[in-house]
Amino acid sequence: MTVRDVPPGRRLPAAVTLCEVGPRDGLQNEPVAVPTADKIRFCDMLSDAGVPMLEATSFVSPEHVPQMADAAGVYAAIRKDANRTYVVLVPNERGFERALEAGVRAIGVFTAASEAFAQANIRMSVDRSVETFAGVVRRAKEAGMFVRASVSTAFGCPFQGDVAVDDVVRVCERLLAIGVDELSVADTIGIGTPNQVFDVVDALRDVVPLERLNLHFHDTRGTALANIFAGLQCGVSRFDASAGGLGGCPFAPGATGNVATEDVVSMLHGMGIATGIDLEKLRTATRFMAERLGRPPASRAYAALEAADARARALSAAR
Ligand code: COA
Ligand code: ZN
Repeated sequence: MTVRDVPPGRRLPAAVTLCEVGPRDGLQNEPVAVPTADKIRFCDMLSDAGVPMLEATSFVSPEHVPQMADAAGVYAAIRKDANRTYVVLVPNERGFERALEAGVRAIGVFTAASEAFAQANIRMSVDRSVETFAGVVRRAKEAGMFVRASVSTAFGCPFQGDVAVDDVVRVCERLLAIGVDELSVADTIGIGTPNQVFDVVDALRDVVPLERLNLHFHDTRGTALANIFAGLQCGVSRFDASAGGLGGCPFAPGATGNVATEDVVSMLHGMGIATGIDLEKLRTATRFMAERLGRPPASRAYAALEAADARARALSAAR
């Protein structure tokens, strides 16, 4: 691989819209059932923290993802602020019916850039999934819903390895053609590098307006913040992140958590980029879930804030 130039001097966005995926992408990977009441509390605390978009739960098969079996109960009970979007994941028509019944206003459909992952995750070919979602998206739009479509394994696949940029573009074009409002292009296994971000976003630039493009990174190899910065340099201003770095994917061997929302917010605020999120309140939400799960969050910024608090407490105790 040759060393390449970075995109020429582009103005970074003044504000970024983060989608908080902790309650879904995060908790779906937890082996022990999290009580519904705790999930609801977690979502409400994230609303309090000011997240503009929240992936609250998923109406997937309870057999395949038992942790999400209480989707209807979670969605019904969470606070739904008028100025925030509460997205639920829907894998097929059955999931859409359940979401419709629950009064959902925004759905996320999902397929993959690699055939092997689509089969493992939603048990359909990429083609079949787009066909299935065509009907779902049409009905969702008729019902006035916001529709986001996620493209998994856009930067590499746990089964197939490399994924061609053309394959990412092709599935994105097809999802846009069936009428989705937003595309979320995902590095499901945290293997992408900033160069790939440049390549993927440059290839998508002519396919989708950048205001409708979201990027989703996992921090498996510590490259997530660098990838977000690469996205910012390309003019992308929408990213997913997960409180406390919760997550992984039960269908993607080796995937660890999403990039931690605290880390992203802390970097962006440090750069003067607005998110509308209150880092202290976000930390409160993360602490709540970390205590429930019984382990410290995988967030550097969270750990740094906790350590600073501990030093301040020690100092005041010594006085
Ligand atoms: N919600 C609830 N039940 C569902 C469902 C849904 N969205 N989709 C299917 N089912 C039920 C069917 O009703 C059927 O039940 P029955 O046996 O009592 O009749 C059973 O599950 C099997 O249905 P089938 O259509 O054969 O589904 P499947 O077993 O091939 O599974 C998916 C397909 C897509 C539902 C499943 O793979 C899934 O939920 N994947 C989501 C994975 C995920 O969440 N990944 C993380 C996000 S990146
Ligand atoms: Zn993910």
